[in-house]
Amino acid sequence: MDLKGKLLSIDDALRLDRKEILETYKSYVNPVLAGLQALLGMDLNFVKAQGCSVWDEDGNRYLDFVGGYGSLNLGHNHPAVLEALHKVETAPVMLQSALGKFAAVLACNLAQIAPPGLQNCWFCSSGTEAVEGALKLARIYTGKEPIIYTQGGFHGKTMGSLSVTGRKKYQQPFEPLIPGCLSVPFGDVDALEKALKESSTAAFIVEPIQGEGGIILPPPGYLREARKLCSMYNTLLIFDEIQTGLGRTGKMFACQHEDVVPDVLVLAKSLGGGVVPIGCYITTAQIMKKAYGGGMDRGLMLTSTFGGNAHSAAAAIAAVETIVKEDLPHEAQVKGEYFLQKMEKLKNKYDLIQDVRGKGLLIGLELSPSKGLLDSLSAGMWGKLSSDFLSSMVAAELLKEFKVMVLFTLNNPNVIRLEPPLTVTTEEIDRVVEAFDELFSRHKGFLKIALKSGKSAISSLFRR
Ligand SMILES: Cc1ncc(COP(=O)(O)O)c(C=O)c1O
Repeated sequence: MDLKGKLLSIDDALRLDRKEILETYKSYVNPVLAGLQALLGMDLNFVKAQGCSVWDEDGNRYLDFVGGYGSLNLGHNHPAVLEALHKVETAPVMLQSALGKFAAVLACNLAQIAPPGLQNCWFCSSGTEAVEGALKLARIYTGKEPIIYTQGGFHGKTMGSLSVTGRKKYQQPFEPLIPGCLSVPFGDVDALEKALKESSTAAFIVEPIQGEGGIILPPPGYLREARKLCSMYNTLLIFDEIQTGLGRTGKMFACQHEDVVPDVLVLAKSLGGGVVPIGCYITTAQIMKKAYGGGMDRGLMLTSTFGGNAHSAAAAIAAVETIVKEDLPHEAQVKGEYFLQKMEKLKNKYDLIQDVRGKGLLIGLELSPSKGLLDSLSAGMWGKLSSDFLSSMVAAELLKEFKVMVLFTLNNPNVIRLEPPLTVTTEEIDRVVEAFDELFSRHKGFLKIALKSGKSAISSLFRR
């Protein structure tokens, strides 16, 4: 197809083949990402998706265990979400001269399922934006500046969220970030108390389980202690449940494993039912009133043009209803235990697996870059090559050989995330476990491929 010099239509987009997608993406979106994904074979043309499955243009079926980084708790294209969108298709999507009835209903429903006392919502269109909103809420409510965050934590990539995302590699090129942000080790109560003591802090923001940090569970009691300390120092406790929320870890919200109620709960990803972008925070009526209730000027500080529009709110209403009706938190708990057990057996079988951990259907498989046969076979080269690429190579092989999709966590590239839709079946889990088993059992052959793809990926990155 001749792609140059004309405006392409949606039908043109539907007709693009694999090569044309790569070339167009490379020229007009992100050349480095396009090149890397092509090297890893992650540039296939997918044409259909349903539940846990996606199909390529040749009709091959793949299992999606990336799950939109936690955005697909309901799976791809859940019929209830599509039906909700159909119901509002002729309604005004947004109308600034009227109140959003779908947003109001969604907020009302979120207050029913949220931990007790959380009642007032602010809607926006992404996770990072919802985090920005929560940080601003903490500052305007407390009148204080410092914000404490955790090392390895991930809260997004806009300036405010990046300022509290605990990975230097992402922060450094954009410094100076917003002032007053201070990191503490995740899971360390003493360090948190010391930091709270030393500065008069607006908020402590934390994920109940670190997702992008490598699926890291805090020590038992950490969240409860954090709650006590934040109350003691008049600091808002913000739980970022963008990835852990809405059933993922076996409870509606991960903080409910310890019965801890934050002052602010942040949501996005699966809130949109896997179909539309929406983010929000929910807080108490008292906090919202003090922060934004003092007159016209304050109320108008809370706008976001697309926040809570009819489509995103309708999809979210259906998503929440489906999660409750189908008891997806319970599904996540039962299938997560099954999955984790099976992966633990693999860990005992292969040196390459350093750890398997998680809760519900948020599971991490940590690969050991330096251990075992691979390192000795490659005369130490493996360790050097693998720090950022090992899990990508494993993911590439799983995709190519077994039609299984997995990816690494952003702040910890040695960890493969396993986050299938909560509607996944045990047969689908079995297929993925068998794929890992077979891949690792032929790791001699795999080593060759991995080294080859690793080398070309690295040299390609340096060439740019
Ligand atoms: C815990 C957490 N917070 C915030 C974000 C940022 O969300 P978004 O990519 O929608 O901006 C993510 C994304 O992975 C996340 O996992």
